Amino acid sequence: MSGKTFYVTTPIYYVNDIPHIGHVYTTVAADVIARYMRSTGKTVMFLTGTDEHGQKVEQAARERGLSPQDHCDEMVVRFQQLWRRFNISNDDFIRTTEERHIKVVQHFLQTLHDSGDIYQSTYSGWYCVPDERFWTQKDLQDGSCPDCGREVVQIEESNYFFRMGKFQDWLIRHIEENPHFIRPETRRNEMLGFLRQPLDDLCISRPKSRLHWGVEIPFDTNYVTYVWFDALINYVTAPGYTAEDDRFHALWENCTHLIGKDILTTHTIYWPTMLKGMNLNPPWRVFAHGWWTVEGRKMSKSLRNVVEPNLLLDEYGADSVRYFILREVPFGLDGDFSHAALVGRINSDLANDLGNLLQRSHGMLEKYRAGVIPPQPGPNDMGDHTRVLLEHSSRTVEELKSCMEDLAFDRALKSIWGFIGAANKYIDSAAPWTLSREGKDTKLDSVLYSLFEAIRRVAVMITPFMPETGQKMFRQLGLAGKKELTLMTSLEEWGGLPGGTRTFKGPALFPRIEKTSASPEIPDGKKEELDMDDNLIGIDEFAKVQLVAGRVIEAESVPESKKLIRLVVDTGEQRQLVAGIAENYSPEDLVNKRIAVVVNLEPATLMGIESRGMLLAAEDDNGIHIVTFDEEVKPGTRIK
Ligand code: ME8
Repeated sequence: MSGKTFYVTTPIYYVNDIPHIGHVYTTVAADVIARYMRSTGKTVMFLTGTDEHGQKVEQAARERGLSPQDHCDEMVVRFQQLWRRFNISNDDFIRTTEERHIKVVQHFLQTLHDSGDIYQSTYSGWYCVPDERFWTQKDLQDGSCPDCGREVVQIEESNYFFRMGKFQDWLIRHIEENPHFIRPETRRNEMLGFLRQPLDDLCISRPKSRLHWGVEIPFDTNYVTYVWFDALINYVTAPGYTAEDDRFHALWENCTHLIGKDILTTHTIYWPTMLKGMNLNPPWRVFAHGWWTVEGRKMSKSLRNVVEPNLLLDEYGADSVRYFILREVPFGLDGDFSHAALVGRINSDLANDLGNLLQRSHGMLEKYRAGVIPPQPGPNDMGDHTRVLLEHSSRTVEELKSCMEDLAFDRALKSIWGFIGAANKYIDSAAPWTLSREGKDTKLDSVLYSLFEAIRRVAVMITPFMPETGQKMFRQLGLAGKKELTLMTSLEEWGGLPGGTRTFKGPALFPRIEKTSASPEIPDGKKEELDMDDNLIGIDEFAKVQLVAGRVIEAESVPESKKLIRLVVDTGEQRQLVAGIAENYSPEDLVNKRIAVVVNLEPATLMGIESRGMLLAAEDDNGIHIVTFDEEVKPGTRIK
């Protein structure tokens, strides 16, 4: 990495589902490093966006009865709105369905085809439908997809391939010679290990007979492009690859891709070889961070409600969540999200350490100097305590710089909080109340000035992490509109804060969260129980739901749907139901099953099929479980 430019990207997220805390994590991390680099005077480009092609998205759209484009247009708004709420400062937002991107993908395909690096061949082997990936026999684990553990199917079809294998030796050399390329070190070793096996060529097309929703292959319109080959190219589309101007190259030489460890191979094997084929350099750095679980469990659809990002924002605010996710876990390691840990951090680090520093300092400045910053003291007016504080400040700035270069966000915050601790200690040891009582006015001025310069420095350093808090602190310090004093570049010399500035005390920035106030400490299983207690209904209300025993007569998968099964059920009369259970039950499992059915539900149409009622089921981490009877019950019998 060199020069005055910095380019950072997040993965472009699939729009088959709504954003969750994992997406928030990478995007907040990218935002923090982008804001920090801007603050050091660099020209920054920060890119995020959405991955809109491929089977997952096509399927999700179909299940919602929408065209893929309409589905994408609706889903993308969820991401864009969430990023606004989290104060994400991206400079561009790319969607892979945009014309500017499709053009660049087709340019890659055509160029690689012309140079002979893309060729046609017949593929026969194993294919994981949900992951859209081909696997060889040796890749499989217990006969299943080595990545997601799901079932694979055998296919044979003609496709286009990228000569990835021919770049293997070059790639190994590149990784070995550029230790910064794959971070952290463990991931670098993992990929070098992976490359000890021969590297196969990459199948980069899908026949339209199987998948429509993709970028058409320019030299064979019977095919669309494999979603990963399309998606990775977004990183060069947005900074203007085909424009071939200086801006693109300046950015590309300084590119950091932030990703989760789940997509390491695509970013450090597929992507650099694709770029090499195009005579472009690999990105400067790919950093793969760790994986979040929630309250000790793998994030599942049902658990996601507990950490739905919009609810977290409503409950705790953007800055607290931003602080927590980057402080709690070293970037690169796995972590667990729990409300209790989040509330703990808010109360100890934000309300106590930072909040107390601000409240005490502003209180004293009001009391002793009517809220006005005294003039900056000369070196001879500084006592020993002040000199210790100054040294700590320089050390913290240096530590921050080095941590941010390494994307060690947790250590950066720890170091800033060390300085906050030092400022709190400074108040205790310099004891302004004693200086006031003893009428030592020059010394009191000196201490109050130094204290507020320290607070300005804290505000500058935390702004990339907590932009709203930083702005509030600058307003309190009377620095609104004085941008140059809010940047990292203002920390080279001690004493940027102008004497004579009028400050404003303002309310506490982080009130303590009392344990009784909200849902935080309640594990999610319990939460449902408690919600139920609060939500009691009478027997009459329950009786409005007509529940009867039923027996499945017929069952068949709904064509082109991953989840839906059409059932004909005897509930005293024959009744057609459509149920979203195909991921856990095959139609044959269902025939003759005794089930519980709600029969007075308004009819609904799913994928064009009418459903008159609903079967009862429970969903947990292992999937969906249908409610059945332990003995035979006559169909139509009322359940009470
Ligand atoms: O993979 N913990 O999109 P995606 C931490 N479209 N991070 C997590 C996470 C978790 N539990 N879950 C998701 C795709 N993430 C492709 C990317 S890029 C050219 C194409 C984050 O919607 C993490 O950054 O499945 C992960 O890599 C990404 O979301 C996957 O997002």
